[in-house]
Amino acid sequence: MPIEKVAVAGCGLMGSGIAQVCAQAGFPTVVCEVNEALLQKGMKSIEKNLDRQVEKGTLGEAGRTATLARLKGTTKVADLAGADLVIEAIIELLPAKREFWSALDPLCSQQAIFASNTSSLSITEMAAATARPQRFVGLHFFNPVPVMKLVEVIRTIATEPGVFEEVHAFAQRLGKTPVRTSDRTGFIVNRLLVPYLLDAVRALEEGVASIEDIDNSMKLGCGHPMGPLTLLDFVGLDTTYYIANIMFDEFREKRFAAPPLLKRMVLAGWNGRKSGRGFYDYADAKNPKPVKLG
Ligand code: 3HC
Repeated sequence: MPIEKVAVAGCGLMGSGIAQVCAQAGFPTVVCEVNEALLQKGMKSIEKNLDRQVEKGTLGEAGRTATLARLKGTTKVADLAGADLVIEAIIELLPAKREFWSALDPLCSQQAIFASNTSSLSITEMAAATARPQRFVGLHFFNPVPVMKLVEVIRTIATEPGVFEEVHAFAQRLGKTPVRTSDRTGFIVNRLLVPYLLDAVRALEEGVASIEDIDNSMKLGCGHPMGPLTLLDFVGLDTTYYIANIMFDEFREKRFAAPPLLKRMVLAGWNGRKSGRGFYDYADAKNPKPVKLG
């Protein structure tokens, strides 16, 4: 049975982006948040993204209306039950995710496929909270979801090959480029990206170069759209610190160890763009200035 109806749990930065691309690709999509205020915030960001596409002429008025008509917001987990595929993008905490999946499992049809958007938690451990580990995969999108083409499709040792291929085909139907990987913390992208980002912080900490020069080096010398410290601000220093700690815990390798400067910045609440300050100060959001670090 090909996937026709989609449900997304979580309407934050990632969940709203995932719900948007599913609805835009033609799938009736239900998206769930824990309360009305968070749901409205996520739905507004979807509308804003669609408006921007209409202004640019990449989406017609009719396309905007049809996308929004396919999208239903809810605060009731039970409303996710009719979907062929449930994509979870709730808070990155394993107990919360396991609780969510074990509550949803008995409400859904046995044929429904479950997918987590986690960037670093174990898919196997989440699948074990359900009675359907063979129909459980990882489906990892990248920020900003409507723009980034990549989706990592992750199998566990229990995932049925047919389920895995169906989700892979679904990602293609979204207009994304899926890659196949297995349930090893960090998958492909974060396994390579996180040590690189941590090394950029170490280079700064060791006085190799300034914030701007480190960023310009990778932008202009390697053609990256953002330098590593700008990207850290974009992803969130707290998020990166959290992922690095999980990876270090799993592999016990120095390359995944968070440098003290990153830890201090997170402790100080300098979490990047979302908190107004990270390696740059976003008081003037259009013209961020490198911060002075003591
Ligand atoms: N939502 C939707 N669309 C957005 C957007 C957002 N938040 N931000 C930018 N866009 C769109 C713009 O509308 C524009 O669309 P267009 O091509 O149709 O005109 C396009 O993206 C380019 O935007 P801008 O011209 O404003 O700015 P840039 O050219 O600087 O691109 C960027 C912005 C796409 C964010 C680019 O800087 C980039 O690719 N940065 C790297 C992002 C990255 O590496 N993401 C992965 C992070 S790691 C991750 O997510 C994994 C997790 O587990 C940690």
